[in-house]
Amino acid sequence: RKKISVAIDGPAAAGKSTVAKIVAEHFNYIYVDTGAMYRALTYKAFSEGINPTEEQQLFSLLTQTEIVLKPSEHGQLVFLDGENVTAQIRNNEVTGSVSEVSKHRSIREEMVRRQQQLAKGGGVVMDGRDIGTHVLPEAEVKVFLIASVEERAQRRYQENAQKGFSADIEKLKEEIALRDKLDSEREVSPLKKANDAIELDTTSMTIEQVAKKITSLIEERI
Ligand code: C5P
Repeated sequence: RKKISVAIDGPAAAGKSTVAKIVAEHFNYIYVDTGAMYRALTYKAFSEGINPTEEQQLFSLLTQTEIVLKPSEHGQLVFLDGENVTAQIRNNEVTGSVSEVSKHRSIREEMVRRQQQLAKGGGVVMDGRDIGTHVLPEAEVKVFLIASVEERAQRRYQENAQKGFSADIEKLKEEIALRDKLDSEREVSPLKKANDAIELDTTSMTIEQVAKKITSLIEERI
């Protein structure tokens, strides 16, 4: 069977990575979480004391940075220069600054180059904000996942509760809405549905339903 490329884009906390992982596993495809790459760079910038507004310094940092995504039984692991930073890249500090880091042109160009390298052989499910529009414009299947801010905040809240930490639902809503605004309004490859992407409103769908829908879209193409 043909090994195709699948692009899954959408706003923050729309369930992209959860369904992308399920779908990738189903077809035995590589899963690439591009948000984790921007998060890893943001985390490193903090630990080196680099301000997220400093494009030159961030770019120079990125050229000296190795980011490796590794699948494991417990989901995808993220290694930054050999160190496992899977948990750290999800902290509030990183989440609050990642949109600032990812808006810079030179940073995006280098990230896109790395992402295209990872997708070279096909058989890949990639999630992010600009996959269908810029990273894999030729992807055979493109999905744009949306859900109401209320629903996305609820899901994040549940996820946090399961991990054992509590969160303020209103704060989550604010954080999600702000990140969407920054990601949609930036100049370089903003969050946007590709013309040929299929939009799925997952507000009243379960994870299984969304995964099943994407699986059937892939089945039609292979
Ligand atoms: O997907 P996730 O929420 O982890 O992404 C974190 C941030 O990384 C996004 O809010 C966005 O600023 C940036 N990002 C991006 N392009 C991508 C993936 C993520 O700009 N393809």
